[in-house]
Amino acid sequence: MSQDTPSPSPPSAHHPTSDVQLQVRQVFKEFPTAAGPLAILKGIDFEMQAGESLAITGPSGSGKSTLLQMLGTLDQPTSGEIVINGQQPFALSERELARFRNRTIGFVFQEHYLLPQYSVLENVLLPTLAFNDGQDSRQRAQELLRRVQLEHRLEHRPAELSGGERQRVAVARALINRPTLLLCDEPTGSLDQGTAGAVGELLMELHSSEPTIYIAVTHSLELAATFGRRFELREGLCYEL
Ligand SMILES: Nc1ncnc2c1ncn2[C@@H]1O[C@H](COP(=O)(O)OP(=O)(O)OP(=O)(O)O)[C@@H](O)[C@H]1O
Ligand SMILES: [Mg+2]
Repeated sequence: MSQDTPSPSPPSAHHPTSDVQLQVRQVFKEFPTAAGPLAILKGIDFEMQAGESLAITGPSGSGKSTLLQMLGTLDQPTSGEIVINGQQPFALSERELARFRNRTIGFVFQEHYLLPQYSVLENVLLPTLAFNDGQDSRQRAQELLRRVQLEHRLEHRPAELSGGERQRVAVARALINRPTLLLCDEPTGSLDQGTAGAVGELLMELHSSEPTIYIAVTHSLELAATFGRRFELREGLCYEL
C-alpha cells in the first residue's frame, strides 16, 4: 500500500448503526516470555457509540492498561479486531497510523508527560503541530484552557504548576484535536482525593459537551460510579457490571 493512500473502510457488515464508533471483536493478547506465551486477554468483545462513557476496573495485572494501549492503537492484538470510526487502524501504514492516532485518539495517563521546556499553551498545542490542517488551534487551546480553569496560567511552565493543574493541562492537550476516543489510564491516580474528584468531574463534563467516547481505567470505585458503563476485567475476560 502506498504511504498516503487511505485504505478502504471495511464493508458495512460491522456497522449496525452509524453511531457505533468503536468495535472490539474477540481481542486476544499474548506476550512472549521466556516460559512461553503469556495470555493476558482471552476474547474481549464490546462496542461503543458516540457520547458513551466506560470505566474499566479490575485487579492489578488483569490487563487494563494492555487493553487501553490497543484501543489507543499503540499496540496490536495478537488476534481479533479493533475498528474505530469504521477504520481498522492496524491495516494502515505506519505513517497513516500515526496520523490516524493523532486525530482520533486523546490520551491522559497517570503521569502528565508535559514537556518541561514549553509553556502550558505550547504543551496543549503540541498535538496540532505534527499534522496541522490549518484550523485555528490556538483559539481552541485557549478555550480548552479556560474550561479547565487555567486561562491565567498560559505562559507558566509545568514545573510552576500544582499536580492537579498539570493534569488539567494534560486533559486540554488530549482534547485539542477533537478526538473520537478519549482514553485515560488512572487519570486521577497520582492526585490527592479532593483534586482527583475535581479532575474526574472535569473530564466527565468535557466528555459530555463534545461527542467523544470516554474510556478510563481506574482503581477508584467512586470515579467508576460516575460513568455510564462499567467493565471489570478478570482472568482475561471482560464483564459488564
Ligand atoms: N510487554 C510485556 N511483556 C510481558 N508481559 C507483559 C508486558 N506488558 C504487560 N505484561 C503483563 O501483562 C499483565 C497485564 O498488565 P497490565 O499493565 O495491562 O495490567 P493492569 O491491569 O493495567 O495492572 P495495574 O492495575 O497494576 O496497572 C501483567 O501481568 C504484566 O506483567
Ligand atoms: Mg495499568
